[in-house]
Amino acid sequence: MTKPSQAVSAILDAISSARIALNKNEPGSRESLIDHSRALIATLEIPSEFIQRTFWAEPAQSAIIRLAVDVKLFQHLQEAANASLSLSSLSQKTGVDATLLSSLARHLVAMKLITFDNGAFHATKMSNDLAADNFQHGICYCYDVVRPSVNAFPAFLKRIKYKSPSTDGTDVPFHDGHKTQLPFFEWLVATPPHLHQFDSFMSAYRAGKPNWYDFYPVSERIIEGFDSSTSDVLLVDVGGGRGHDAASFAAQYTSHPGKIVMQDREPVIASLLAQGSSQCFQAEVHNFFTPQPIKGARVYYLHSILHDWGDADSVKILESLVPALKKGYSRVLLNEIVVNEEEPTLAATSMDLMMLAHFGVRERTEAELGSLLTKAKLRLVKAFSFPGVAESLIEAELA
Ligand SMILES: C[S@@+](CC[C@H](N)C(=O)[O-])C[C@H]1O[C@@H](n2cnc3c(N)ncnc32)[C@H](O)[C@@H]1O
Repeated sequence: MTKPSQAVSAILDAISSARIALNKNEPGSRESLIDHSRALIATLEIPSEFIQRTFWAEPAQSAIIRLAVDVKLFQHLQEAANASLSLSSLSQKTGVDATLLSSLARHLVAMKLITFDNGAFHATKMSNDLAADNFQHGICYCYDVVRPSVNAFPAFLKRIKYKSPSTDGTDVPFHDGHKTQLPFFEWLVATPPHLHQFDSFMSAYRAGKPNWYDFYPVSERIIEGFDSSTSDVLLVDVGGGRGHDAASFAAQYTSHPGKIVMQDREPVIASLLAQGSSQCFQAEVHNFFTPQPIKGARVYYLHSILHDWGDADSVKILESLVPALKKGYSRVLLNEIVVNEEEPTLAATSMDLMMLAHFGVRERTEAELGSLLTKAKLRLVKAFSFPGVAESLIEAELA
């Protein structure tokens, strides 16, 4: 076994190389530095510290961040900017008793989320970023919805005798955690404001990462060869949520030919239209288990769709597209995490467990995605990926 000091030296060397790569702006270098830093902590920590961090410090931090949303803690710090806020002014602004607030805020200082200097609290770049609406909704979604589902894992799995849960999503940790029998997507609609928080979270959780069109050759494979006599639709974003992908694609390719259409369930489209839908794409209600109404579009794009469903349902979703595809022209693009069994990333494993908790399903390898496509009479053409990005872009067409 490697001595701890040798292991620490090896990690520090790796950190040093990753730092050089970061200075050269190499893709994936920032993520690699974070990963090496985690390895450093894992090597240095002793069990009592590990338990304290994992079971006290991190859960307490997320609980404080959740209540910070209610009392607008990060927004008050952001507004104060360089003026900084003493404990008593922060207490006055948030309405949290000063003695209580000192414990809560001190923990955030220890976790390096905010700073304390010269008798006053200061925002950091992270606390300011978290003050944005979509992250505030994401925090509520993760704390109120995800956490009870994940907490239910041990008792749930004991109850089903450590078998894999059924992939139809009818009996999963989410049901025990939330004392419901509704399927996840129906429960979101039935329990406001969870649908709103979920949709907002979906638009935020990949923020700051390269988009699929940053590493998929869009001009060459989609825009060139667009044929308006086949259909006036360039891209259909199937199950597109609030349309964040459709909007950012339209903003990136401002002079794209054809229309962009975004489809989702009725409550999602209704809430989008109530906010005043974007002009850059058309939003329409469509159940992706029913035949695709837009025939002969150049692209049918499905982002984080199949990973919510077991194999039988995923094949049905793909089969519902097939009659709409024009052979040799239409492409199906799947934007999905592709599991790498040799080198699993935290982004992939944590999403895999989210899927297990809420739907009883799992993230798939490239071979597993290829097999779903084959069952639906499609063919995997090529998988495109990018360093540091958990999701890959799988291009497929009619077999
Ligand atoms: C994980 S989210 C992905 C949203 C978006 N594509 C993204 O990547 O941010 C799954 C989406 O599928 C939608 N959805 C679930 N069941 C659906 C159905 N039967 N028909 C159409 N959309 C559905 C949900 O409303 C949600 O917007």
